[in-house]
Amino acid sequence: MPDARKPDRPHASAAAHPIDDDDLDGLAARRDATPAGPSGLGDRLAFLLGFVRDPAGVGSVVPSSHRLERRLVRNARIAEARTVVELGPGTGGTTRAFLDAMSPQSRLLAIELDPVFAGRLGDQLRDRRLHVECGSAERIGEMLAARRLSAPDAIVSGIPFSTMPQDVGERIAAQIAQVLRPGGVFVAYQVRPRVADFTSPHLGTPKFEWELWNVPPMRVFTWVKPAA
Ligand SMILES: C[S@@+](CC[C@H](N)C(=O)[O-])C[C@H]1O[C@@H](n2cnc3c(N)ncnc32)[C@H](O)[C@@H]1O
Repeated sequence: MPDARKPDRPHASAAAHPIDDDDLDGLAARRDATPAGPSGLGDRLAFLLGFVRDPAGVGSVVPSSHRLERRLVRNARIAEARTVVELGPGTGGTTRAFLDAMSPQSRLLAIELDPVFAGRLGDQLRDRRLHVECGSAERIGEMLAARRLSAPDAIVSGIPFSTMPQDVGERIAAQIAQVLRPGGVFVAYQVRPRVADFTSPHLGTPKFEWELWNVPPMRVFTWVKPAA
């Protein structure tokens, strides 16, 4: 019996036609209206346990809402991207949303610091487009090279820049700016705005939005790397 939560190939909908805003609206509306099933409850419990293991590193007690996922997919232009990097996938709700929107030929590198989350992600999301790496986002360049992945069109980050040491934040922001392809997009969803202190010196002024339909309400920053 195939398990819809464990696709071993890209979803037929992504292969059949490009995803537009109506598709995303419909998807988000259905998912927001659906009570948490067994996997939703399992994800929430695993996420809470992750927060107990490392409150500062995880930075939130519940996974992102589907409305926030939808905003990330739009802002990062995930449907058009060939290579996507996710920093801090956690229990994988955002990762699933990206895979749902991505084309069959695309690749997603998910970098997760917590070994329990990273192992769980590899076990639960069986999709040949997904590469899971356990380690710090400070090593994005090295991880892309090891997998022979092209310069990312989009990097999406939920890692809590507000609680990390200054030198770690500086190294991650420098890596993001270095590996992103010219014209590529960096999207960060954060409770606090400190990510901009690290990233704006490299990528300039971001677009800023609130996503209020999330616990807690989330700041969403979007940078586009200059083309030249
Ligand atoms: C707020 S959670 C986001 C989880 C998930 N993407 C979501 O939206 O529900 C932040 C995640 O970033 C991970 N993390 C924190 N610091 C990291 C780092 N330096 N490199 C990679 N992942 C990191 C944490 O372990 C945690 O899973």
